[in-house]
Amino acid sequence: MCGIIGIASNKAVSSNIINSLKKLEYRGYDSAGLATLNKNEIDEKKCSGRVDQLEKMLFKNPSNGSIGIGHVRWATHGIPNVTNAHPHSTEIVSVVHNGIIENSDNLKKKLESKGIKFKSQTDTEVITLLITEQLKERQPLESVCNTLKQLKGSFALGIIFKNFKDIIIGARRGSPLAVGYSNNENYLGSDSYALKSMTNKISYLDDGDLCVLSKDKVEFYDLNKNKINKKIHILTNDQNVANKGDYKNFMSKEIFEQATTAKNCINEYTDSLKKDINIYNFPILPSNIKKITLIGCGTAYHSCLVARYWFEELTTIDVEIDIASEFRYRKLKFDTNNLYIFVSQSGETADTAAALDICNKNNMKTCSVVNSVESTIARNSNWVLPIHAGPEIGVASTKAFLGQMIVLFILCLKLAKVRKDIDHSTFKMNLSNLEKLPEAIEKSLKVENSIQLMAKEFLDAKGSMFLGRGLSFPIALEGALKLKELSYLHAEGYPAGEMKHGPLALIEEGLPVIVIAPKDKYFEKTLSNMQEVIARGGKILFITDHKKELINENIRFGIRMPSIGNLLSPIVLTIPLQLLAYHVALLKDCDIDKPRNLAKSVTVE
Ligand code: F6R
Repeated sequence: MCGIIGIASNKAVSSNIINSLKKLEYRGYDSAGLATLNKNEIDEKKCSGRVDQLEKMLFKNPSNGSIGIGHVRWATHGIPNVTNAHPHSTEIVSVVHNGIIENSDNLKKKLESKGIKFKSQTDTEVITLLITEQLKERQPLESVCNTLKQLKGSFALGIIFKNFKDIIIGARRGSPLAVGYSNNENYLGSDSYALKSMTNKISYLDDGDLCVLSKDKVEFYDLNKNKINKKIHILTNDQNVANKGDYKNFMSKEIFEQATTAKNCINEYTDSLKKDINIYNFPILPSNIKKITLIGCGTAYHSCLVARYWFEELTTIDVEIDIASEFRYRKLKFDTNNLYIFVSQSGETADTAAALDICNKNNMKTCSVVNSVESTIARNSNWVLPIHAGPEIGVASTKAFLGQMIVLFILCLKLAKVRKDIDHSTFKMNLSNLEKLPEAIEKSLKVENSIQLMAKEFLDAKGSMFLGRGLSFPIALEGALKLKELSYLHAEGYPAGEMKHGPLALIEEGLPVIVIAPKDKYFEKTLSNMQEVIARGGKILFITDHKKELINENIRFGIRMPSIGNLLSPIVLTIPLQLLAYHVALLKDCDIDKPRNLAKSVTVE
């Protein structure tokens, strides 16, 4: 989950490499580097930390080559320092890599036994040294192909050569890689987003593909050096460009644009005149769908958890959910009447993409719910339901989570209707609630001031707990995940009914416990679970859409949310939890858009 860029041009490339690396920082930001061919030498510059640092280095000491590669790193092998930063170069070759080489230790031993010395602790350096060996007797393409045949694991690579100064070689197995075309300039990039400011003409490499690009030509090959053809895609113009506007950071912008996100998404999928949902062409005849399996990672997985309750409530379809990194290794029984739904903001998450591949290989019908329609997961699935949220830049997912839930709800409602699992009045009522959702979200955002006060309660806390039941359980998990990733404070999400089976032991005087209790069938039960926490000294922060007066001396803070009906309550109740995580992180002076140790697009296993 690093970011790669390569540019072959007829003018100096370093400033465009820097600009592209800034766009790729969502993939990793613990170190950065570039290499250009400058006066017939490989000119490598790297630093630990952000691309800004690299840019400062280049101001002092420019790199003027017209061909170059760049990298932002999310460390896997070796700590994030200058030595381990990419590119990894010898005198004659320089390599940037995204992915993990699983047999790097064995390859390293073999190279060391020949007296070859390593400088870094990375798995990537074996690639550089293997190619360097190959180049003694072979041309670049053959050298790279021979090297790739020795590698196990995943990679997207960008490679330049001192003695072949016109070309960049790219290669893909497992990790995404795109090629962009322009006049007198061609590009290699981890994704089309990094290339968008330079071109809208893109080709995507598939697993096993290589490309050789120079400023005026791009050729594609398979691992046996046979030429292959690639389709050129013309990217659409995305109006919702990544721009912070007047907001302090992307995350606050993304939280506060959620009413618009919801509106756009709902407008795309509903016909307000016909009072219907515009979803057709199901990959399996709806009445034949026996089971739906929902798969995702992290926050996307939480949206699957929410959707499970919806499918159970509104349809007669059997539902299963799984974390992609588990699903991909399970011994599964496939059935052609199962629909597999993959949820991913980026559409590039390695585990989710691998889980999708397994389903495709078993000829299953697959659907993806993604934000990026040009992504690997979207391209590899039979059916794509975009969430229309626009670019999400903050590493912590907010508006994409909301979009995922909305699309899954819409899909569920449409299926329930066409399968006749619900009657027309239930369909109408749910559709009407859905139409009211953007306004309810707008109102929900007004709780920010109260949340700011609540956030102070977390500053000296040892940890915190988030409790909910039914549809609020996944929201408790999501609230805890947001708080951990943004403020580095330990947080646990639990089904409230589960507390007495162990976690209650964690409750002590003053521990913040967030209770999410909408007015649903669990309400009274959640209140009882809350009493058990109060009795043990927990400091209650209570979030509800219930009209009843609930605040009493046992509840430190109460937040009242707009009511939107039971089924849609998780969407509204997510908002205060996003704001809470945001404000705790702000008070703790954490890096909101780029929390430590994380990356936006997780393209390694
Ligand atoms: C948390 C977060 C992650 C992602 C997860 C999956 O805020 O953003 O947990 O949800 O890495 O990413 P996508 O949705 O891109 O597959």
